[in-house]
Order: sequence, then C-alpha cells, then structure tokens
Amino acid sequence: MERITISRNAVKKAIPAADQLGFGQLFTDHMLVMDYNPEQGWHHPRIEPYAPFCVEPAMMVFHYGQAIFEGMKAFRLQDGNIGIFRPQTHFARLNRSADRLCIPRVDPDLLLEALKKLLEIDHQWVPNAKGTALYIRPFIIATDNFLGVRPSNTYRLFIILSPVGAYYAEGFNPVKILVENEYVRAAQGGIGDIKTPGNYAASLLSALKAKEKGYAQVLWLDAKELKFLEEVGTMNIMLKIDGEVITPPLGGSILPGTTRDSVLTILSEWGIPNAERSISIDEVIKAAGSGKLEEIFGTGTAAVISPVGELKYQDQVFTLNDGKVGPLSQRLFDHITGIQYGLLPDTHGWLEKVVVNG
Ligand code: COI
Repeated sequence: MERITISRNAVKKAIPAADQLGFGQLFTDHMLVMDYNPEQGWHHPRIEPYAPFCVEPAMMVFHYGQAIFEGMKAFRLQDGNIGIFRPQTHFARLNRSADRLCIPRVDPDLLLEALKKLLEIDHQWVPNAKGTALYIRPFIIATDNFLGVRPSNTYRLFIILSPVGAYYAEGFNPVKILVENEYVRAAQGGIGDIKTPGNYAASLLSALKAKEKGYAQVLWLDAKELKFLEEVGTMNIMLKIDGEVITPPLGGSILPGTTRDSVLTILSEWGIPNAERSISIDEVIKAAGSGKLEEIFGTGTAAVISPVGELKYQDQVFTLNDGKVGPLSQRLFDHITGIQYGLLPDTHGWLEKVVVNG
C-alpha cells in the first residue's frame, strides 16, 4: 500500500464549543487528497492543511457533474478514543457510485487507513457532547480540463471533516414533511440509488417551495405513477403501521442508507416485525384514517433518527403522535446513538476504533 504523506498545518484554527455546532459550517485543520490518472491509478495519498485549491474553469466536474460523495460520522467514545460508524459500508457504497458514473474504484483499505490517520491528526475536533459528531465527507471529482461529454481521464479524491450537531434546526424534535406530488427525484434506471450531487441539485426547488409552506423537507413519490413512497432525499423513510415497520424497498431509485440498514437489523433483533416493501400514499392515508398509522421517522447519517410530527399530502394534513417524538423513534435513537458513543455493546462490529494519544 502506498505511503500516505503528511504535511501539517502550522496555524491551527480555534475548535468550536460542542454546544454551538450546527451542520456542515466548520472544517478541521487538515484534509486527505489523492489523485488518479490512467498511468498510475489512484496515487499520492496525502494529508494536507485544509485550504482552497486552484483549478481551471474548464474542469469537467463543473460542466457535467461527474462527481460522487459519501457522508459518515466519527464519535467521541466514553473512553476518549474515537469510533467511526460503519466506514467500510460507506466505502463500498462510494465504489458502487463510482461504477455508475464511470469513476475508477478506490481501495477501501487504503481509504480507511488514510481516514484513521486524518482522524488521529485532527482528533481534537471530534466533539464530546451528546448529539454531536465529526461528519466525514469523502468525495471524488472529475478533473480533466475538457468540454466534450465523456468520462474524465483524471480524478481527485478528498476527505474533509466537519464537527456537527443536529442536521435539522428542530434537533431531535419532530419535523414536518410535505409529500411532493409535482416534481420527482429519480426514476428507475437513473442515478437515484447513488450518492451524486445531481440528485441533490434536482431536489432544491421542491425543498425551497416546501420550506415556504413551513415544511422541513419533502417526501418523494415514485417517478412513474406518483403513488409509491420513495425517500426524503436526506434520509430514508420508515412507517410504523399496526405494529409493523415498513420501509420502501431498494428498487434502484432510492439510496441504500447505512442507518436504514442498521435500523432494520436492530428491529429484527428486537422482534419488531419489519418489511421492505412498496407502500402507496393511499395506504398511508388509509392507515392514518383508521388510527393504525403509529409513527413515521426518517433514517440517515446526518439525520440519525428523525421523527416526523406532521405529514401533508395535497390538502390533507396528518399529525403523528400529537406532534411529539414517538416511542419507537426514541428507542431507536437511544440505541443507535448508544452504540455510536460506545455506551452500548457493539455486537455487529459497526464501530472502527481510532486510538488517540494526548
Ligand atoms: C448524510 O446523511 O450523510 C447525507 O449525505 C445527507 C445530506 C447531508 C446530503
């Protein structure tokens, strides 16, 4: 494995107070950078001071959006060390995204080694308050300077780090979600099941309109019939109906969330019935009408477990749990964050430990 070179930042930034953190506004002192060209493959992994970089306006990523990313988190454990939550699951998804967008795969073991080194160097940035984490953002961009449409020959990979609190301004309080019935996020055969910036750019107008109406996010419906639930865009969606937790299946247009997978595993362990199956908005309305819709919550790395307090579809508004956090959402949140902070046993080996000195 190629050696990772390290050049340290001479000037250190002030580390923010853990109780002041929002989401994704501050960045640590260092970042990981690595390049790809056809002759050398991925090469020259290096940890450098976090800093702006100079590129040409003709760089392909600006024109055709050939880029992918991941989002994962590192937590301050009870013993003072650091735990990265399911990094190999995230790197596997990064490589699946790479395949779809004709980007060369990256060695996940090299990425993990480099990330652990980066965290050792910037370990003081991992906050230690409840509800906080160090958000890890790996991304790859196409770097040829060229205006024809084809895959780039060269790429650059970065990992940047950001200390974060809750993703939503509401914190762990219920969010209001609007069911989108005009725009769609992704169609079968498209790129909705990979993590690429275009999916998020396509969601902005819809989210803006929802915000104007007082809703935090939109819940997307399928592109063909505008009938079946998909995902929220920053999180997968789960509904508890008559004792069973239902979540839309990974049918090719929604993101295979790591937290989604963790929650399904935990639910099965707890003996709570759960199913990955298509669920229509009509079924949700019917369940709400008959009093069987018990809870709705989102799952995501940034959002963790995000209870939904209100769902609006056309002119119908459904309030869940009197707008309060549901008991299952609370239990799942406590359990997952318990594992993440090292307070509960990590029976699945989900935490990759980084031992810090000093
Ligand atoms: C995540 O949950 O990590 C995401 O990537 C969602 C969003 C912040 C883009």
